[in-house]
Amino acid sequence: MIDEKPILEKLKAKACFTSPDIAVVLGSGLGSLADCDGGQSVSYSEISGFPRPTVAGHGGKIVFAEFNGKTVMMFQGRFHYYEGYPMDVVTLFPRLAAALGAKLYLVTNAAGGINKEFNPGDLMVIRDHLNLMGTNPLIGKNRDELGPRFPDMTHAYNPEFSRLLLECGKALGVEMREGVYAALTGPSYETPAEIKMLRTMGADAIGMSTVPEVIVARHAGLKVCGVSCVTNLAAGVTDQPLSHAEVLETGEKVKYDFVKIISMFLERVSI
Ligand code: HPA
Repeated sequence: MIDEKPILEKLKAKACFTSPDIAVVLGSGLGSLADCDGGQSVSYSEISGFPRPTVAGHGGKIVFAEFNGKTVMMFQGRFHYYEGYPMDVVTLFPRLAAALGAKLYLVTNAAGGINKEFNPGDLMVIRDHLNLMGTNPLIGKNRDELGPRFPDMTHAYNPEFSRLLLECGKALGVEMREGVYAALTGPSYETPAEIKMLRTMGADAIGMSTVPEVIVARHAGLKVCGVSCVTNLAAGVTDQPLSHAEVLETGEKVKYDFVKIISMFLERVSI
């Protein structure tokens, strides 16, 4: 079991902003928001005991920055279940965010488009999710001091903040989608038959992250909202084979719009 206490202490010793209002997790290819001017950066490697990401395209740092008077803590580089990390490592970010007093946990990720209306490069506000990882990060003895045994997931993705994300897209002239994000463990991409099944189940996009973090964030009472970047069409939607290079390439193409939308959201949001 990962011990958050020494990590929190080291983080507090290294960073001058230690009480974030908002935590943001930046998905594959979407890390550029953390490269903003005036932020204070702490590499994961500077914090002993902090796990290290193993996937190319993930930077591995925490950046604290101010957006219109609000302190935002950004995680660039997440820990995935498919990398072999246990669920307590996969969900370390919402645990740290909650312990530091953040009120909102904003998730972003790269996802495959299942909805036939979607195109690569689309940004989708996450309305809800399907946990198809075959596990749940809250399995085991409940940490009653952090949250309830059976947390409600009815409005897991806060409707008010989701609306604000859509409004920011509109204000910036970027049409955003809305939909359901399904998570499988990966690391293999899905088969066309699996994508057909997921579509029938109500999924609009598919990815390999986010859902465990959202469950832990909701357990801890954090409000949550999220954006998926549709980096590719899911398997079988076209004949095209899938590659991580395509995921990163699309992330690179949309990063300008993505950064503008998330920045405007962080400026405008009141928490
Ligand atoms: N499937 C699963 N995860 C993904 C995909 C995909 O097509 N694209 C980006 N992450």
